Amino acid sequence: MYRTKTCGELRIENVGEEVTLAGWVQRTRKMGGMTFIDLRDRYGITQIVFNNEIDAGLCERANHLGREYVIQVVGKVAERSNKNANLPTGDIEIIAGKLNVLNKSDVPPFTIEDNTDGGDDLRMEYRYLDLRRACVRKNLELRHRIAQEIRRYLDDRGFLEVETPLLIGSTPEGARDFVVPSRMNPGQFYALPQSPQLYKQLLMVAGFDRYFQIAKCLRDEDLRADRQPEFTQIDCEMSFVEQEDVLQMFEGLVKTIFKNVRGVDFNYDFPRITWADAMKYYGSDKPDIRFGMKFVELKDLTEGKNFGVFDNAEFVVAINAEGCANYSRKQLDELTELVKRPQVGAKGLVWVKFEADGSIKSTVGKFYSDDDLRKWGERCNAKAGDMLLILAGKTMPTRKAMNELRLAMGERLGLRKKNDYKPIWVIDFPMFEWDEETQRFYAMHHPFTKPKDEDIPILNSDTGAVRANAYDMVMNGVELGGGSIRIHDPKLQDKMFELLGFTEERAQEQFGFLMKAFKFGAPPHAGLAFGFDRFVSMVAELDSIRDTIAFPKNNSGRDMMTGAPAELDPSQLEELYINVDKARIEKDKK
Ligand code: AMO
Repeated sequence: MYRTKTCGELRIENVGEEVTLAGWVQRTRKMGGMTFIDLRDRYGITQIVFNNEIDAGLCERANHLGREYVIQVVGKVAERSNKNANLPTGDIEIIAGKLNVLNKSDVPPFTIEDNTDGGDDLRMEYRYLDLRRACVRKNLELRHRIAQEIRRYLDDRGFLEVETPLLIGSTPEGARDFVVPSRMNPGQFYALPQSPQLYKQLLMVAGFDRYFQIAKCLRDEDLRADRQPEFTQIDCEMSFVEQEDVLQMFEGLVKTIFKNVRGVDFNYDFPRITWADAMKYYGSDKPDIRFGMKFVELKDLTEGKNFGVFDNAEFVVAINAEGCANYSRKQLDELTELVKRPQVGAKGLVWVKFEADGSIKSTVGKFYSDDDLRKWGERCNAKAGDMLLILAGKTMPTRKAMNELRLAMGERLGLRKKNDYKPIWVIDFPMFEWDEETQRFYAMHHPFTKPKDEDIPILNSDTGAVRANAYDMVMNGVELGGGSIRIHDPKLQDKMFELLGFTEERAQEQFGFLMKAFKFGAPPHAGLAFGFDRFVSMVAELDSIRDTIAFPKNNSGRDMMTGAPAELDPSQLEELYINVDKARIEKDKK
């Protein structure tokens, strides 16, 4: 037997027992005639003592153990004179009687400690060593725990876990597909699923009624802290349901997980906001409602005083930064720089300070009287000591810029605490999004989403105003999940493809199988998918979803450990009838 106990389980009650432990050498310390080793496994750390006076040979061998050697130790559990309250096993130690080296280790390239000295890339290259660190492993343990809770919740409610294929045709989720060449069908390619969307709908046609899958999804898109090229969804679909049924079911899932895993009790119904209001008050379809600072529109109050920037702007909007009238020149310059960054895109920032002594200071004091400015303040509920921050321009870009400014102010004022969980449903998304570049509509969610019944009559006449039965679950400014009521009427689906600019042939080619299936009695159905990595990272209060994934990719989509993606052997390419245009690659690199 390699071990009788793990390195995390021995306590004061075990004193006197003879045990066998196995694990990795975390640290060796020599003190007087004693050698102490911290032995680590997944479950914890236990101190092992080698006493020169009891067995000099054994102690000498212990002195030669390197970091990360794998060893087995037989010994007696003893009470520690110098207890360590920070370790669950800190009351005891093992007086070693036997030592067996199971494997040696090279010196690891970084310390296997929570506070490691290894940089990101190095840790990614040696991810298996990084995963030995308790703080990283803890996230994977939490991920497992959440997966179990999800399975239990959904199984209790009759959801069937069904796997769907990875080698498929294209799914229209809005990103680029990763493609896989088919050797058996030269010149033809599979796409990897951006989500199991079409399959889950087909499972509803098949009468499965309630489906779920913890599914790998693959999207070739630019990466950010909350995006990986391969990520996991908790993918769900239900038949014979309305929006309310879906929202209740998955609000219940979120509540159950937060309660059972995090001890957070949401004992209220999650608020709901329409997409239109989310844009109006927060300038974002994923509003962070941990704090107020809602947008207040000021255009009507600012007009006609010869301030060209506001007079010529389509839209003028303010937020009230409470208690910020004491902001210094430097702080205001920082905010101005922030809004002028190309990603934010504002031309400048106007501020109005309502000083504690009742006076008013503003960048636009030349154009507006104190009375004018006081009216702005009243509309924004500003008190003495508060400061208005104002942006102007075209409506949508200005809202987006103000969203960035609001979030930055929330951050500065400490209003975005990670453990302050504030969920909200965003509902009634627009059905379509107009793309200037290609001069056509795109489906904001996906083309299988059902428009709101009351908007069906305006599908042709006012396409851009049509709202969808689509919903997102947003928490702390992060889109945790989203879904929609699906179209189950083949005629409406045809209409949708037409509005999205698909020719009949292309729709047939890409989705013919789905349209065919819908002719055989498709039930009304709806669903939703949570981003599982984002969910775990939210519960664990992490900054990046990378830390929830055992083997993540870096920001260029590269696996630093295996080196993928890599060039293929010429014989593989030949077999696939693929020629790589190296000259073009070189040219495009320049
Ligand atoms: P959607 O595209 O909104 O919907 O995706 C659902 C959820 O998946 C997560 N997500 C991601 N997480 C990490 N990295 C990514 N690159 C990434 N992209 C998306 C988000 C998002 O809310 N088939 C539909 C769902 C449905 O209609 O049922 C879909 O995939 O948390």
